[in-house]
Amino acid sequence: MTKKIKISINGMTVEVKEGITILDAARSVGVIIPTLCYHKDLCIAGNCRVCVVEVAGQKRLAAACATPCEEEMEIFTNSLNVLHSRKEIIELLLSEHNADCTSCFKNGNCELQKLASDYKILKQDFIRLVPFKKYSIDKYSPSIIKDDSKCIRCQRCVRTCSELQGINALTVAYKGDQMKITTFFEKPINDVVCSTCGQCINHCPTGALVERNYIEKVWDAISDSTKHVIVQTAPAVRVGLGEELGFGHGERVTGKMVTALKRLGFDAVMDTDFTADLTIMEEGTELLTRLKRALVDHDPEVKLPMATSCSPGWIKYMEHIFPEFLEHLSTCKSPQQMFGALAKTYYAKARNLAPETIVSVSIMPCTAKKFEASRPEMHSSGYRDVDFVLTTRELAIMIKQAGIDF
Ligand code: SF4
Ligand code: SF4
Ligand code: FES
Repeated sequence: MTKKIKISINGMTVEVKEGITILDAARSVGVIIPTLCYHKDLCIAGNCRVCVVEVAGQKRLAAACATPCEEEMEIFTNSLNVLHSRKEIIELLLSEHNADCTSCFKNGNCELQKLASDYKILKQDFIRLVPFKKYSIDKYSPSIIKDDSKCIRCQRCVRTCSELQGINALTVAYKGDQMKITTFFEKPINDVVCSTCGQCINHCPTGALVERNYIEKVWDAISDSTKHVIVQTAPAVRVGLGEELGFGHGERVTGKMVTALKRLGFDAVMDTDFTADLTIMEEGTELLTRLKRALVDHDPEVKLPMATSCSPGWIKYMEHIFPEFLEHLSTCKSPQQMFGALAKTYYAKARNLAPETIVSVSIMPCTAKKFEASRPEMHSSGYRDVDFVLTTRELAIMIKQAGIDF
């Protein structure tokens, strides 16, 4: 059994498990300590210092996320010293940050912006201390935009890519005020082993990593009377959309979602489930064909076992990391791409529409789908199969923009 120790937090005596950090101990009794570089999914980095607290008997403030509690420790999370230091740390972070909040995709959803607001950072003492404008924006990827001028170098993205995804597409380069998050030989993120999974975006506290958004392009298509705009939604969206718009975790909002899509002006609303069935049928046929070649025809060239995935991130991962196994992958398209191809062939014919007038939009839970739609081979209909991929987040933004009371 884990030993318990007694500590005091802001004068309250608390019993906690030995070895627990000050941050976790404080949270367990409802005391909020702000964090930036800390993330519960990731190992501790302890580099932003926003979580500093005072420990009786210690000269220097301690980082709550990286300091384990000790018996009889007296901790103060909101002393004047702590509040002043924290405020100064936030000011310093802002001094290197392109705080162009109103034109940032993360406006309203940025952890640094929230801290600046909570701590009422009104002084400009450090503002513009470091010329952030020397940094570049990497916008070559169809999925991800990386804007170094908004990076606070917390390294959550680097740890995410390494610890959670096992890919290591991102790394830290240089030191001091030159330090930056970059890739192998500072290449664009589109030219390295990145699977475009988007997990670094989800873990980035600021607007330094965001999805490439296609909201304006979809609005343009919807308002163009010469276009027939067809939308498909992936199964996960009917839950994710609810969470994004304030419903409980796991609550399905299928009916509301379909109504909202119709009210947004899409000409046809469809479900990717249909082509998920087609994908399974195609994959099953391919497997039977390979088995026949192996077991009946004794073809030594056939590759077994056969692996399949509807995730373009996983496919890209295999292409980069395990190219020797590529022939084991099914050649079938993902449901998103089968849908896109059918929209501009079978559906166009059934509805008597010219394929070039059809704009095919998909709502997907993952940024890798944006990359997949942009692959040059995804034009089997003679046109780009899927024109625009929106994430669940982008659809939620469109619903808010349209003033739909979801
Ligand atoms: S998108 Fe995924 S693979 Fe690419 S850098 Fe981010 S976490 Fe790594
Ligand atoms: S890109 Fe985002 S997650 Fe990565 S270091 Fe910069 S602010 Fe942190
Ligand atoms: S959150 Fe503790 S040092 Fe960054």
